Amino acid sequence: MSGSNHNDVVAAPHCYYCILPLYPPMKVLILGSGGREHAIAWKLSQSSARPEIHTAPGNPGTLTHGRNLPLPDLTPSSFLAAAESVQADLTVVGPEAPLVAGVVDIFQSHGRAIIGPSAAAARLEGSKVFCKSFLDRHHIPTARSHKYSSRQEAAPHLSSLGFPVVLKTDGLAAGKGVIIAASLTEATAALDSLPDAPLLIEEFLTGEEVSFIVYVRNGQAIPLEATQDHKTIFDGDTGPNTGGMGAYCDGRILTARQTSEIMDTIIEPTVSGMNAGGAPYSGFLYAGLMMTAAGPKVLEYNARLGDPETQALLHRMDSDLLATLLDGSTPTWKSAPSVCVVLASHGYPGPIRTGDAITGLDRAQCQVFHAGTALRNGALVTSGGRVLGVTHSGPSLHQAIHNAYHEVAHITFDGLQKRTDIGAKGLKRW
Ligand code: AMP
Ligand code: GLY
Repeated sequence: MSGSNHNDVVAAPHCYYCILPLYPPMKVLILGSGGREHAIAWKLSQSSARPEIHTAPGNPGTLTHGRNLPLPDLTPSSFLAAAESVQADLTVVGPEAPLVAGVVDIFQSHGRAIIGPSAAAARLEGSKVFCKSFLDRHHIPTARSHKYSSRQEAAPHLSSLGFPVVLKTDGLAAGKGVIIAASLTEATAALDSLPDAPLLIEEFLTGEEVSFIVYVRNGQAIPLEATQDHKTIFDGDTGPNTGGMGAYCDGRILTARQTSEIMDTIIEPTVSGMNAGGAPYSGFLYAGLMMTAAGPKVLEYNARLGDPETQALLHRMDSDLLATLLDGSTPTWKSAPSVCVVLASHGYPGPIRTGDAITGLDRAQCQVFHAGTALRNGALVTSGGRVLGVTHSGPSLHQAIHNAYHEVAHITFDGLQKRTDIGAKGLKRW
């Protein structure tokens, strides 16, 4: 069957006199089950095209915007079967694992429109070694590094390094493949804890960390607003790394000049380099950047939207997400900053406990995105590491933070963990 991509899709035609789409409405399928996917479903549900929304496998939050499709497993062929079962007009991929496993390739070979990079292009996230050699080859600013084919090969070199250094294992590691080592002792212990795979040891960069996400369509990169994540479990950026404990979106995170520098020196060369390398990039591309004294540098690429960045980002997006996805229209943003505070389970980011009853959600007067939640006998319980993303806005960042934490206070479950300083780094800067 001929290949097809999202550029072939057209939104449901609209009635000339009103905003209602002519029927049948477009069917959109979202792949994934986290807070990011709930935020995508929530935002798409506000589209003027009134799409019919399905999420596979989804969570109790996505269920409030449409149907959840149960899956036997998370393989590309099961996702394709789900899309075919509802005759999805467009599929949006949330997490990285299906992308790296080739979900976009299998959809396109079956003529089904899907948003995301091919497996070859998703290697920017799937292999840190591929990503680093791509960045170096195209002179895209990033930390200097050495590549080793194994831990054994790296071990004798540790004593000659200046510390701190960053050790990165190749391949997807769910946020656990990066270790910052402050000394030789720490680096030796870190090396022992990494899986036996190729690895990078790289220069430790300092500066403000920024999540810069673009939407790539037909070789053109459309920048979204910058966000900041809070990676560690404890306040003050201490403790082990997590998937992200909260994020905020405020139009002041980057200046217009910084944004154009990032587009010129990082994003455009990446998109054109992938094209020239025979793996053209399509879909969301998330650059994890360090704003160093010498300018922005790439810490990592992700082949998708961030989580929890998406919750804050889409909360602030004023325009229709579906329109941007379908025709590349430039998104517009509300002036009010947004803040997402993640509530995590007992034990996270280590072994977690699940099944704790969640109460108070009905009292929260803001958008609460579900992630690791499940319904048990009609009651909501914890079922994953990151449980909920309490998301609010306000006329100032200070007020947005205050508003979000005011609603957080209503929600309880045993073992709840949260940071109390989400957004505070923005307050310190302005
Ligand atoms: P990653 O899993 O690649 O997102 O890396 C996790 C975190 O490690 C990043 O968000 C940074 O906080 C930190 N990190 C990664 N690489 C570096 C680096 N070269 N210098 C300083 N921090 C880094
Ligand atoms: N919040 C970090 C990520 O999505 O990778």
